Amino acid sequence: MSLTVTSLCGSWFSASSTRMSSLLLFTSFLLLDPIWALEFRYHDNSEIEQYLIQTSRSNPNITHLYSIGTSVRGQQLWVLALGVNPQRHVVGIPEFKYVANMHGNEVLGRELLLHLIDHLVQGYRNEEASALQLLRSTRIHILPSMNPDGFDDADTDCQYSQGRFNHNGVDLNRNFPDVFSDPQRQQQSEGQREAEVRAVMGWLRNETFVLSANLHGGALVASYAYDNSNQGSMQMGGASLTPDDDVFVHLSKEYSYSHASMHRGNICQGSRAFPDGITNGYHWYPLAGGMQDYNYVWAQCLEVTLELSCCKFPPADQLEALWSDNTDALLAYVRQVHLGVKGVVYDGSGVAVQNALVEVKGRKNVCPFRTNSHGEYYRLLLPGNYTFTVTYPGHEVLTETLSIPYGPDKYSAMTHHFRLRRTSAITTAYIQTCPTPGYSHAVNLEGGGATSRPSWIRHAVGIGLAVLGGWVIE
Ligand SMILES: *[C@@H]1O[C@H](CO)[C@@H](O)[C@H](O)[C@H]1NC(C)=O
Ligand SMILES: *[C@@H]1O[C@H](CO)[C@@H](O)[C@H](O)[C@H]1NC(C)=O
Ligand SMILES: *[C@@H]1O[C@H](CO)[C@@H](O)[C@H](O)[C@H]1NC(C)=O
Ligand SMILES: [Zn+2]
Repeated sequence: MSLTVTSLCGSWFSASSTRMSSLLLFTSFLLLDPIWALEFRYHDNSEIEQYLIQTSRSNPNITHLYSIGTSVRGQQLWVLALGVNPQRHVVGIPEFKYVANMHGNEVLGRELLLHLIDHLVQGYRNEEASALQLLRSTRIHILPSMNPDGFDDADTDCQYSQGRFNHNGVDLNRNFPDVFSDPQRQQQSEGQREAEVRAVMGWLRNETFVLSANLHGGALVASYAYDNSNQGSMQMGGASLTPDDDVFVHLSKEYSYSHASMHRGNICQGSRAFPDGITNGYHWYPLAGGMQDYNYVWAQCLEVTLELSCCKFPPADQLEALWSDNTDALLAYVRQVHLGVKGVVYDGSGVAVQNALVEVKGRKNVCPFRTNSHGEYYRLLLPGNYTFTVTYPGHEVLTETLSIPYGPDKYSAMTHHFRLRRTSAITTAYIQTCPTPGYSHAVNLEGGGATSRPSWIRHAVGIGLAVLGGWVIE
């Protein structure tokens, strides 16, 4: 029995006899909410599926269960979305995601995410302020297992790799398109990638995620982009830095310092020292085809890889303590989706426009961030003054300097809309410089709402490709 049940009981019953009330409670919960106590033990794939189905049925107002595809062996890749509008995106509400168990034998994240779901759902039911604020301000997507086939194959060893790979023996964290790898690698079409990777790529096209974390095990550290060498464009002290390095360091420290011990930096036996419990991924060890670089480069979603346990498969009797070590950190990290600034870009007629480039001076992203199908942009930035440039065909380039406060405390980034002015001059400033991963980017950009204007961008992509040569649309 859990504390959760007891506290719910308090609000639902005021019977004088404890015995009586627990009997009543027991029967009513069996009827209302069959999974009322999430135990601290490992749940297999079908138990997770049952848990998600029942949680979504019992909490239709704040949860939405959907699948992003299937694994090689045909298991559903279930995602539970949580928020007061769980079914679909609402303008101004940022999309956040947690992904666990991409390596099938790194299993703590699966259980942590189930407990996070339980925590948010029970917090909402008990009207706890922090759960209410989080669910009202944010849409949180949770994929407890990206590699259910690997999990089925995993042994409980702390270090070895049995179960790490998917059913085809592929490491999913090496199978994403990589902008820094040689073009040969890029030419692998999306259809040739692993089923689990294709599912995530499709997911990233459907939702404009702003912030993400990818939960692993085998170390205790928050590791941030880039994982691959950026080919010298910004390398310092053996690190491969992004133009948003200050934000990545902040996000990683937010996790490590909200965690019981990660910030101490070298907890695991034989681990190298990680000052502040964080590291640049490449500095730790270089890898190509990783998910976090892909998220950042092509989905404009900042993702951090969280290594959450020294042992890849911690003994079940440690799960409760590990959940308690991570609870605050998991919640604090979600709140960081409210850093910086967000808003809508309007064209000369006041219509919200998709694919307007919204760039921050001094931050040259490989692929410039652009507005989504609702005309929205989100930009995670630390407090300070930043100069923005907004570019859209047929309109003057708009430059504005914004003074940005700290948003997470208020559960909202600063809102600022950009209003463009039409010009008859031909806009030459708009040159699409983003290399396409090995699939048709034009299709990606066309998918959108009523405000999308796909015709010109297809052209612009064409120019970009001509300039870049080597990058081929399949
Ligand atoms: C669910 O939402 C509806 C509509 O907003 C509301 O009437 C109802 O009370 C809510 N139910 C719960 C259990 O929160
Ligand atoms: C993306 O959205 C489309 C249309 O709503 C849907 O058919 C598809 O299943 C979604 N894919 C993923 C991966 O969510
Ligand atoms: C940002 O600009 C405002 C004026 O717009 C100024 O008062 C403030 O000191 C600036 N902040 C920083 C960090 O430069
Ligand atoms: Zn891993």
